[in-house]
Amino acid sequence: MSEAMGYPTIRPRRLRVSASLRAIVRETSLAPSDLVYPFFFHAGISEPRPIKTMPGIFQLPVSAAAGQAKELVARGVRSAILFGLPKTKDATGSSGLDPEGPVPLAVKAMKAAAPELIVMTDVCVDEYTDHGHCGILRTRRDGQVEVDNDRTVELLAQMAVMHADAGADIVAPSDMMDGRVGAIRHALDGNGFETTAVMSYAVKYASAFYGPFREAADCAPKFGDRAGYQMDPGNAREALREAALDEAEGADLLMVKPALPYLDVVRDVRKATNLPLAAYNVSGEYSMLCAAAAAGMIDLDRAMMEVLTSIRRAGADLILTYHALRAAELLGG
Ligand code: PBG
Repeated sequence: MSEAMGYPTIRPRRLRVSASLRAIVRETSLAPSDLVYPFFFHAGISEPRPIKTMPGIFQLPVSAAAGQAKELVARGVRSAILFGLPKTKDATGSSGLDPEGPVPLAVKAMKAAAPELIVMTDVCVDEYTDHGHCGILRTRRDGQVEVDNDRTVELLAQMAVMHADAGADIVAPSDMMDGRVGAIRHALDGNGFETTAVMSYAVKYASAFYGPFREAADCAPKFGDRAGYQMDPGNAREALREAALDEAEGADLLMVKPALPYLDVVRDVRKATNLPLAAYNVSGEYSMLCAAAAAGMIDLDRAMMEVLTSIRRAGADLILTYHALRAAELLGG
């Protein structure tokens, strides 16, 4: 090897000498349009209600939806995902099918105020069931209670059609039932919504990082956990299997969730599919940064931008994140 091949001829630091140089060789971009902002619309409140475990995030009345939609668009954030807190809950989550519920009403208000905003809805019954599980329960012969996959899938398909009817651009099932993407696609097409897209929470782990969300959406399971339907954190090959199944069933976009503890999975799924890929920077990831910053341990803005960049670098096209508005502001939106 000639001397010229190494130091002192070769100096990687040459490309780091100025902000402009660093900017032109940066491999990963981050823009406000990469970010999806989650909302919690509550049917029973008339003023925003702070979520204690998620500083800066609020449960909102539906009356706030139009203003929020306009603010997002003004900042360059092009998409939102909506969760709902209903007035009443029951065993089958029937308030989730109410066309006058908080999600369909907020979808209508947002699309009317900002037609260019892409409005996504979370399709899952856990916010609407009194037991907090992501489906209808049944008791097995051995006495164990479990979520009934096939009855739940029927419900999810109806919910997706109702959201599409309200004007949702994208429906996003987060329940992890088998076969729901195909059933939702079939139901949408059968009701004239063939242009409504499905973003599947294809790879969703049973994660401790959903803790703050369960306060935000009031959907903590009243007994047991979600390990019977969400994925085991140790599994990566299974992620590829879930992603491939949802793609085959007609998903238009795929998602990996959570993001940070699963960046390897984001990378693996990115390599395995040509569909657009989203990753969910979930509530616990958000609140962890806020708590560390509040304790004086880290700089919140810098840590946030580094986290978001890492998720893009791993291969996500879109990032669902509670940081979206602040990040967009820093990005000049
Ligand atoms: C289920 C759902 C959850 C999240 C999004 N959709 C909670 C769960 O599965 O327990 C979590 C999002 C977050 O933590 O930010 N409808």
